[in-house]
Amino acid sequence: VPSTERPYRNHLEVGRSYDAVAVEYLKRLGRELEYKPLDRALLGALIEQTAHGPIADLGCGPGHVAAWLLDHGVGAVGVDLSHQMIAVGRRAYPGVDFRQGDFLRLPAADREFGAVVALYSIIHLPPDELPIAFEEMRRVLTPGGLLLIAFHVGNEVRHSDEWWGHEVDLDFRFLDPDAVITSMEGSGFVVEARIERINYPDEVATRRAYLLARLAPDERQ
Ligand SMILES: C[S@@+](CC[C@H](N)C(=O)[O-])C[C@H]1O[C@@H](n2cnc3c(N)ncnc32)[C@H](O)[C@@H]1O
Repeated sequence: VPSTERPYRNHLEVGRSYDAVAVEYLKRLGRELEYKPLDRALLGALIEQTAHGPIADLGCGPGHVAAWLLDHGVGAVGVDLSHQMIAVGRRAYPGVDFRQGDFLRLPAADREFGAVVALYSIIHLPPDELPIAFEEMRRVLTPGGLLLIAFHVGNEVRHSDEWWGHEVDLDFRFLDPDAVITSMEGSGFVVEARIERINYPDEVATRRAYLLARLAPDERQ
C-alpha cells in the first residue's frame, strides 16, 4: 500500500472537477444501465460468480452501478475521490455503503470484497499509477474474486476545461487494452474475457473495452 503521505499529482483537480458535475451526472447518467444491455450482462455474470459480498464499485460516481448491484441482491460499497459524488450518492441510494477515497489508497480492509467493479474510472490515472491501482484492487479483493473494468480504447488524452457548463480540469486517458492487461497480470489477475464495443447511441462516440479478470485463487496464501 502506498504511503498516505504521498501527494498524488492531479487527484485534487480530478476530485474537484467531479464535485462540480456531481448533481448533473446523476441526473443525466443515473439511469444509463437501462440502455446498456452488455454492461448489465457483464455485471450479472460478475454477481453470478461471486460467492460472497460485498462488491466494491471503485470510482463509483453517484453510485448508480453500485445501486444496481444492490438491487440484484449483493451488498455494494461505492468508493469515489469526489466528496460531492459521495454526498449525492448517499442521498440517492441510502442502501449503498459510500466511502470517499482514492484508488491508490482504498478505504477498505484486505480481502474485504467478493468482487470489484471499476467502470470508466481508471481513465483519469496517469500511466505510472495504473499498477499501483491494480495492487490496491488485489489487496482488497478476496483471492479467486473477479474484477470488471471498463475504459475508452485508444492512446489519446482528451483534456476538458468545461463540462455541462461547469469549470473542470480533467484529462480523459484512452487506454490500450494490451497494456492494461499486462498491468493487471503484474498484480496477479488472469483476464478471462476481453470485450470491445462501439458506443450506444446515447454515449460519447468512443470504442469501449471491458476486461473481466480473476485474482489467482492462491494469491498471497
Ligand atoms: C467517468 S466517472 C465514472 C463513474 C461511474 N463509474 C460510471 O460508470 O458512471 C469517473 C469517476 O471516477 C472517480 N475517480 C477518478 N479518479 C479517482 C481516484 N483516483 N480514486 C477514486 N475515484 C476516482 C471520479 O471522481 C468519477 O466519479
